Amino acid sequence: MTTINDNYLKLKAGYLFPEIGRRVKAYTDQHPDASVIKLGIGDVTEPLPEACRTAMIAAVNEMGDRSTFKGYGPEQGYLWLREAIAQHDFQARGCNVDASEIFISDGSKCDCGNILDIFGNDNRIAVTDPVYPVYVDTNVMAGHTGEADGTGKYEGITYLPISADNDFAAQIPSQKVDLIYLCSPNNPTGATMSREQLKAWVQYANANGSIILFDAAYEAFITDDSIPHSIYEIEGARDCAIEFRSFSKNAGFTGTRCALTVVPKSLTGKAKDGANVEIWSLWNRRQSTKFNGVSYIVQKAAEAVYSEAGQQQTKALVSFYLENAKIIRDKLTTAGIQVYGGVNAPYVWVKTPDQLTSWDFFDQLLKTCNIVGTPGSGFGAAGEGYFRISAFNSRENVEEAMQRISEKFTAAKV
Ligand code: MLT
Repeated sequence: MTTINDNYLKLKAGYLFPEIGRRVKAYTDQHPDASVIKLGIGDVTEPLPEACRTAMIAAVNEMGDRSTFKGYGPEQGYLWLREAIAQHDFQARGCNVDASEIFISDGSKCDCGNILDIFGNDNRIAVTDPVYPVYVDTNVMAGHTGEADGTGKYEGITYLPISADNDFAAQIPSQKVDLIYLCSPNNPTGATMSREQLKAWVQYANANGSIILFDAAYEAFITDDSIPHSIYEIEGARDCAIEFRSFSKNAGFTGTRCALTVVPKSLTGKAKDGANVEIWSLWNRRQSTKFNGVSYIVQKAAEAVYSEAGQQQTKALVSFYLENAKIIRDKLTTAGIQVYGGVNAPYVWVKTPDQLTSWDFFDQLLKTCNIVGTPGSGFGAAGEGYFRISAFNSRENVEEAMQRISEKFTAAKV
């Protein structure tokens, strides 16, 4: 009899977003006329920038001509894209990142999970609570945890609570942790990490031989100049950090698929015999073996993000979603609901009113306003009593959704 990876049996319920989808479907099956507005999963709604579409069309035409046709590309990504990224996203901000340290992929969710292939099974993992569920679930799948307790916390993971009580800033743990997941701007809370906070983590990691997995998928939404966009803006980060980035949210590539991971060549980990091993070589080996790269057409679209027109168009997209976030923040605040985030991030983190649980608030909004958000408790035990509202939607839907919520909560108070 073929056995299975039993670690999968430790996973709690379904992945959060399919679970929400299941509940919404159950509701709409019973109420087929309900006009449901989805502000749950952070999926973009606005069309791809014109510069990207034009580049894709040109690339398709190249693929249709024998003299310019491309077969397999480099597993690491085409050098012209990696050079554009190195220059615009890193060197322009004073970060010492070389094109050879950038690996193009089909998503930072995938990379966050895949990166575990190259790390040992005995590392102590630290995550914030609440947290993007992928960090936890991929560690469970890889067998890095024990079972979950009644609150959904897995044995073997160090959870660092973030809430309004600590201004959504994780405290550096007193015990030693080896792999640390940090996400700024944060999914789900929309909070950002200051330069000082990042510096403290980099110092901790370098002092303890830990590696920080820094998820910067939402960096384009930073509006405050004092907030770092990259962990490599912090001195010493090249020796302790891997950074994940994505074209999903800044350029609307959730359905197009392109992302990148930076692995500095100066980063090392320990082999069982105590030798220091270059992490870059392991990741390069992993990618060359298990991945055949992102399509030429999509990489051409990503390259166009760095053209003058592409920069203007992606900035406009980001501003559009940030304006949605502002509308959400303003309307909810006026309705007497406490909100966080949504200023340097596309997510607004809401304190549930009347001490409702996250799922009770989810059900209430779905049933009375036909609005879908994401229950904070789905991101971890410390997310209980919170609710995430995504700013990724059309202006019309965001305004309509906020109108419905305002009416409900203002009426409830009179
Ligand atoms: C989310 O809603 O948290 C995002 O869609 C996650 C992702 O980008 O995978």
